[in-house]
Amino acid sequence: MPDAAVTLPDLIARKRDGRKLVVLTCYDALFARLLESAGVDLLLVGDSLNQVLGGRASTLSATVDQMIYHAGSVRRGATRTPIIVDLPFLSYQVSIAEAVRNAGRVLAETECHAVKLEGGAAMVPTVAALVERGIPVFGHLGFTPQSVNLLGTRVQGRDTAVAERMCEDAVGLERAGATAIVLELVPSRVAAAITAAIGIPTIGIGAGVECDGQVQVLHDMLGLNPDFSPRFLKRYAQLADDVRDAVARYADDVRHGTFPDASHSFD
Ligand code: KIV
Repeated sequence: MPDAAVTLPDLIARKRDGRKLVVLTCYDALFARLLESAGVDLLLVGDSLNQVLGGRASTLSATVDQMIYHAGSVRRGATRTPIIVDLPFLSYQVSIAEAVRNAGRVLAETECHAVKLEGGAAMVPTVAALVERGIPVFGHLGFTPQSVNLLGTRVQGRDTAVAERMCEDAVGLERAGATAIVLELVPSRVAAAITAAIGIPTIGIGAGVECDGQVQVLHDMLGLNPDFSPRFLKRYAQLADDVRDAVARYADDVRHGTFPDASHSFD
């Protein structure tokens, strides 16, 4: 039996108790229902939907309206699980006023529970402003996909100075009132040091086992995206094979006139 749904204020206690947070991305109502019934603690409507569903090379062209559409769908599918929604590129970086307006729209129009934004010290005033206005914020450090053109897709923090800055960024985000911090593509020892340095949970993806929770991109861990095999991904199913097999059998039935049969037809 899954635990009762975790609420955002529970997260700090979860960290203290050492109970790991199970987080998956989710972009639609159908999967949201399945993930909630499987007992996932938190759902993330990631702007990765721009790549996974939209076939784009990066997250950069995701829009607030797209995030609202998908987040609303997830919320209708998962009625008890806290849902975090990514603020897309340029929806929060231009000014604090725009960040408040866009984050407020996301929560008001979707009834989801928190937003996530990328960045360290430069984002601290924005995080503080959102939190002061009642908007829970998740941070995101390490490899931040909206900065892919600056960073490349590579592990961040192997360099001591970068690792120390990341740790300071995490402390700054916590002081600004962030609820939790995603650490992406960070050496395990650096993620462990950050996890020990702050009171809010860290949620890792490619950041080692010492984080307070783990997040994976749902379609990747289900094996729906077989051409994508980064080191940090573990596949728990091979659904691409199942899809191809099911469609091939359907096509065969249709072509041979064995579907529909009487049991799928009406008098
Ligand atoms: O957009 C996303 O899916 C994310 C996760 C990779 C953490 O930010």
